[in-house]
Amino acid sequence: MLRATPAAVLGLASGRTPVDGYAEMQRLHAAGQMDWSRASTFNLDEFAGIDGGHPGSFRTFMEDHLFAGVNLRPERIHFLDGAAADLDAECDRYEEAIAAAGGIDLQILGIGSNGHIGFNEPGDDLPVRTHRVRLMDSTRHDNAALFGDDPSRVPHEALSMGTGTILHARRIVLVATGGKKAECIRQSVSGRITTRVPASMLQVHPDVELLLDEEAAALIGRT
Ligand code: GLP
Repeated sequence: MLRATPAAVLGLASGRTPVDGYAEMQRLHAAGQMDWSRASTFNLDEFAGIDGGHPGSFRTFMEDHLFAGVNLRPERIHFLDGAAADLDAECDRYEEAIAAAGGIDLQILGIGSNGHIGFNEPGDDLPVRTHRVRLMDSTRHDNAALFGDDPSRVPHEALSMGTGTILHARRIVLVATGGKKAECIRQSVSGRITTRVPASMLQVHPDVELLLDEEAAALIGRT
């Protein structure tokens, strides 16, 4: 993407899944084959109640796994501030910043084992725009590695791009690996569109690519 469009606006995900991809991007940059100087990034989500310097924050995660090893300009790295005094205003600011950048060209997504994208948790409805979200216990458990393997230390709230924000990206690449993701991938790909499986919403997007290993793809097509 960056080779064809050096000034691309990239939406980025944290989580274990994209780590190898980010390492490869760092390697390409070190080899002089990927220039990030004109790119902009917007990360999907962040925990609320901690600031970006906290060791468990997604901001720290991205610094460690990507930003430290590429030549992104700091002012072009965009993140939700989970420590903002007014979290609703912070969500509005983020939507406006994405729009001001011209929208997201390529959104990279992981998927939660409950089918969430970003931190859009399953429910009766899904917020369209960037919003505050109460995290499910299963999600706090899945993210415990960032907080010393202690789910009780994972914040109860987060900020996340909305489903509409994500669907507005011009292109989406969702990456999933391992058998733990097989059922949520099956529901997202082969099931009905439902707010109970937020990733199923991606079925309406015209340009989504799934990068799956065999384990994650194993149940596709089953009813
Ligand atoms: C978190 C993030 C998601 C991510 C998911 C999967 O909940 N909010 O954006 O896709 O984890 O994480 P992993 O790749 O570690 O399975």
